[in-house]
Parts: sequence; C-alpha cells; structure tokens
Amino acid sequence: MNQDLWNAVDGYITEHLLPPDPTLEAAHTAADAAGLPPIAITPNQGKLLELLARIHKARSILELGTLGGYSTIWLARAVPQGGRLVTLERNPEYAELAQTNISNTGLAEVVDIRVGPALETLRELHEEGIGPFDLIFIDADKQNYPGYLEWSLKLSRVGTLIIGDNVVRAGAILDSEADDPGFRDGGVAAGVRRFYEMLAAEPRVTATAIQTVGAKGHDGFAVALVTSL
Ligand code: DHB
Ligand code: MG
Repeated sequence: MNQDLWNAVDGYITEHLLPPDPTLEAAHTAADAAGLPPIAITPNQGKLLELLARIHKARSILELGTLGGYSTIWLARAVPQGGRLVTLERNPEYAELAQTNISNTGLAEVVDIRVGPALETLRELHEEGIGPFDLIFIDADKQNYPGYLEWSLKLSRVGTLIIGDNVVRAGAILDSEADDPGFRDGGVAAGVRRFYEMLAAEPRVTATAIQTVGAKGHDGFAVALVTSL
C-alpha cells in the first residue's frame, strides 16, 4: 500500500490533463460541506466515464447511485443534444443536493433524478417503458449489485455498455467473509462476488474488470458489453 504515492500521481494526472473546472469543483465542495460520505469518483475517473460515454456515442445513460451528482455531471456532459440521463438515488437529501449541483452546471434539462431504493425505481422505469439505455453506470450499494445487474440487463439493448464501480475494494472481494473496513455497510464482498459470478455465467454479456489505484485507494471498474438479449 502506498496511498501517498497514489494520491500524488492522481494529482499529477489531474493537474496535467484536467483543466480547472469550477462548477464541478463547486459540486464536490457542496457535497463535502453537506456531510456526504467522501466516496464520489475522482476527477480522472470522471473524465474516463465521460470519454467512454462519448466513444460509445451514448444518448441515454442510466446511473445507479447519484450521491451528490458528481459522476452524474461527468456523464451528463457526454450526452448530446436531445439525449437524457436518468440517475437513481435512495437518499432524498443527497438527491436534493445533487439536483442543485446539476442545475448549477446547466444540466437540469438532461438529468432526471429518481428518488427511492433503486430496486424499486428500476422496476418503475421498466414498467414505464423507459430505456433501453446505451450506457449504465452501477455505483450504488454493493450488496444489491446482483439485482442491479439483472435490472440493467432488462433495461439494455444489444450494445449497451454496463460499467460497475468498486469491484475490487482493496482485494476484499477475494474473500466473501471479509468485511472491507473502507465500506460503511457489511456484505459488500459477497455482493460484488455474486456480481462477478453472474457476469461469468451470463451468456448475454462479455466483460472484464480493471484494478485501479489512486486517491480512492485500490479498487476497480468492471466493464460489460451486452452482446445479445
Ligand atoms: C463506498 C461506495 C462507493 O461507491 C465508493 O466508490 C466507495 C465507497 C461505500 O459505500 O463505502
Ligand atoms: Mg463508487
């Protein structure tokens, strides 16, 4: 573990490749000031999400886990004119702050925040016939990643890109009994392991995962492409 080095390298990357972004930084500061847990993605990760959405030409994006809207803003910026982003947040106070942050970046027209437990709001989206989405970013409570993957597939088309955050957790996923002390709730490793097992057994997707180190420690992203339905 060399967190200081990872922080310094993340700082270097951000300084060189990410121009100062006052509206995004304000969103981050507002989330901190409101006491939200400091678990948003980093700027360089946000930029990666934006680039993936642009490369994929995503016009419709679904996010699970809005928090203060930081990753939402990165993704929403990739959405072209006429596109939309739906983001799901269980905590009404987080959702309210996210709405303010998103409005401050001028993206209120693009983003639709749905408040409630994602397993319920996903069902509602499906019942309303919303979707399929071009890109889905899963970043909510890890215990429910298996259910989120199932719903994501229902809201997908062939070609949908599904990205999952926090699929490594400093290696805690190697042991389903391990409780990652970096997480606020238990059952994380078991949920993420089940997510991998489902991806492995799922004939409709092809997937990989990449470990990352940086300001948010040792973690990783899973990337899955829906190849048939
Ligand atoms: C936690 C959640 C996240 O999405 C993350 O990126 C880091 C930590 C958590 O619940 O502790
Ligand atoms: Mg996360």
